[in-house]
Amino acid sequence: MSDNDNPTIADAGTSKADQTSPQRGPSRRRLLGAVAGGLVTGAAAGLAGGVALGSAANPPQLQPSARRFQNKVVVITGATSGIGAAAARLFAAEGARVAFCGRRVDRGRAVERDIRAAGGEATYIHADVLIESDVRDFIDTAAQRYGGLDVAFNNAGITIQKPLHEYTADEFDRVLSTNLRGTFLAMKYEVPHLIRGGGGTIVVTASSNALATDSSRAAYTASKRGLVGLVQSAALDYASHGIRVNALVPAPPTPTWSATPAQSATSPTMPTGSR
Ligand SMILES: NC(=O)c1ccc[n+]([C@@H]2O[C@H](COP(=O)([O-])OP(=O)(O)OC[C@H]3O[C@@H](n4cnc5c(N)ncnc54)[C@H](OP(=O)(O)O)[C@@H]3O)[C@@H](O)[C@H]2O)c1
Repeated sequence: MSDNDNPTIADAGTSKADQTSPQRGPSRRRLLGAVAGGLVTGAAAGLAGGVALGSAANPPQLQPSARRFQNKVVVITGATSGIGAAAARLFAAEGARVAFCGRRVDRGRAVERDIRAAGGEATYIHADVLIESDVRDFIDTAAQRYGGLDVAFNNAGITIQKPLHEYTADEFDRVLSTNLRGTFLAMKYEVPHLIRGGGGTIVVTASSNALATDSSRAAYTASKRGLVGLVQSAALDYASHGIRVNALVPAPPTPTWSATPAQSATSPTMPTGSR
């Protein structure tokens, strides 16, 4: 399937149109600055689920040769492009066995091929996080294939950008169901494997919109703030099982972020990650 075939447009944060348009009221960046001291890379993890705020301003220095995830089993939702695909490549470069999903088969196969060509271990499994049986089968197949589960990165997400009253109920549901319900489903089926293995880590991709947002992002912001609550609650549920649950809060532009000028100028839906 090509990008144009993709019925929902995956996004993340701020569009190029947003970056160049006149500010209406305080900018999201300024609001973020008030919350987190500006664009910083950092993490605050705790018993009740941490939130890591990141931007491209100070990207972490990665040293894949350290193979810090040697033989760990990692599952990633939404790794056919963007942040998820970059994470799949890095986890594999660090020695992990990576299973990942997404709806675009051609993209999934390409990422899988790249990782294997580089000497890593990865398996693409087609799954739509809107479909409970897809999510369950994706997680169970991954755990069966690689013999358990150590790390889950729940990253699949979309946005539709427009003023609140212009959303159809179906559009609002689609964003919430992908970003929030989809992550709930993934965690629901990941947790039993993690408990069985004696613990592990769940990381969820939220957004800087979870902390401070901008106009035309009602559904996205609601979903990403919901994710922070989901993460905090799950961290309390599973701390005693040795499972850490944290949220990432990327602040665009991230290294994977790109939007075509035509899309960013005119479309109410925004693609984000690099393809
Ligand atoms: N890039 C940023 O600056 C930024 C900032 C803040 C937050 N984020 C968040 O980061 C995550 C990744 O975004 P990205 O920027 O890397 O964009 P992206 O390249 O469009 O990635 C989105 C991923 O989610 C997958 N996905 C979407 N709907 C899905 C569904 N129903 N079932 C399965 N997979 C689905 C897409 O795969 P398919 O289309 O193949 O299904 C794709 O792999 C998102 O949660 C986004 O909100 C990004």
